[in-house]
Parts: sequence; structure tokens; C-alpha cells
Amino acid sequence: MTKDRLGISDRLILATHNEGKLREFRELLAPMGITVMSAADCGLPEPEETETTFAGNAELKAVAAMSATGLPALADDSGVTVEALNGDPGVYSARWAGEPRDFGMAMGLVLDKLATADATTDEARGAAFVAVLALARPGAETLLFEGRCDGHITDAPRGGLGFGYDPIFVPQDGDGRTFGEMSSEEKHGGERPLSHRARAVALFKAALEGGGAR
Ligand code: IMP
Repeated sequence: MTKDRLGISDRLILATHNEGKLREFRELLAPMGITVMSAADCGLPEPEETETTFAGNAELKAVAAMSATGLPALADDSGVTVEALNGDPGVYSARWAGEPRDFGMAMGLVLDKLATADATTDEARGAAFVAVLALARPGAETLLFEGRCDGHITDAPRGGLGFGYDPIFVPQDGDGRTFGEMSSEEKHGGERPLSHRARAVALFKAALEGGGAR
């Protein structure tokens, strides 16, 4: 069985307290006979994301859950990086929205900072969504799968779909609409999905089915 090849039996911990992520991964892994339990189900605390890279934070969360349970654990970390802002908000994408989360404010911050940096053209407003999945396995190296979607930041938010920074991001392989103007199927679906998360998940699935990891 390919999942045995990756050191996964029929149970996997998903190192997240986010119900949305849990649902997505349950749907993805069920056809492979893998049962997913969340870190919250197992009573695990949420570790602080102290690393400065998506891979570092994904690995930190996966390893913490694997060490606490002795079971293989999957975690992800994602965000938007803006070139003219030296990669910000990057791994701090969720934190830029404050507590409780206010992504209207976080998008406003990005737009203000780009205006201050005099970044007016699509080229000067280059950005990417990045998602890294980490699979931590007892007694084996952690595997990383990175998905990326390049694009640019708009002048103003457009569209009310999706979440987070979707209304200010235009994927370069799309048709000029923001992620906030696309249905979930348009963002994540199809043979060649646009979204960073779907691309990372596709790499993970390929590894389960016999491919490689980054
Ligand atoms: P985390 O991976 O849970 O630490 O949070 C990632 C943060 O990045 C989210 O709270 C969003 O603000 C942002 N983000 C990640 N992926 C997307 C996306 O597909 N659309 C919009 N925002 C995203």
C-alpha cells in the first residue's frame, strides 16, 4: 500500500484546531482509507508558531502533534507574501488581522503600505500565496509539500467570496478576477488548480500514490 510507503497507517493526526481545514483533509484522505483525528480531538495544545518560514511552522506543528501522540501527523501553514513589502505579511498573514480577526483591516494595511512604497503597476505589486504541508512520521524524516500561486495585489478589494486576503489577490494564471470573485470550485478545482493549498495537496496525494516530496 502506498500509504504504508510514506509511514502512514490508517490513522493520521491533523495538527490543526481549524474546523475548515479538518473538513477539507477528511474529505481528501477518506478515499485512501485514512481516518483523520484533529489535534483538538486529541486534547493537544496549539503550539506557538515561532518559525520565520511556512515550512518551519508547518514542521513545528506536525512534529509537536506526532511527538505527543506517537502517530504520524500532518500540518499546514500558509499566507500571502508581497514582494514590495519584503515578503510581508508572509507567515504573519493571520496575525496582521489582529484578534478578533479583521481581514478588512489587514487588506487595508497591505494596500496602504503598497501606496507608501509607490508600487502602482501590477508588476510592482507582485505577490504569491504559499502553502506548505508537513507530514511528521515517528522514526522517519518529515516530508514537506509546497504549493504556490503567483499573482499581484489589486488597488482595492473586489468580490465577497473566499476568505482572508482573497479579495485583493489576482492569480496570474487566471482571467483577471480576484480569488474573492471566484467560486471555491474555480479556485481549488480542476486538473490544474489555481490555489496554493490545492497545489500542495496535489503533491501530497501524488506522494501517497507513489511520487516524491520536496
Ligand atoms: P494559518 O496557515 O492558519 O497560519 O493562516 C494563514 C493565513 O493566511 C490565513 O488566516 C489567511 O489570512 C491567509 N491565507 C492563507 N491562504 C489563503 C487563501 O487561500 N486565501 C486568502 N487568505 C489566505
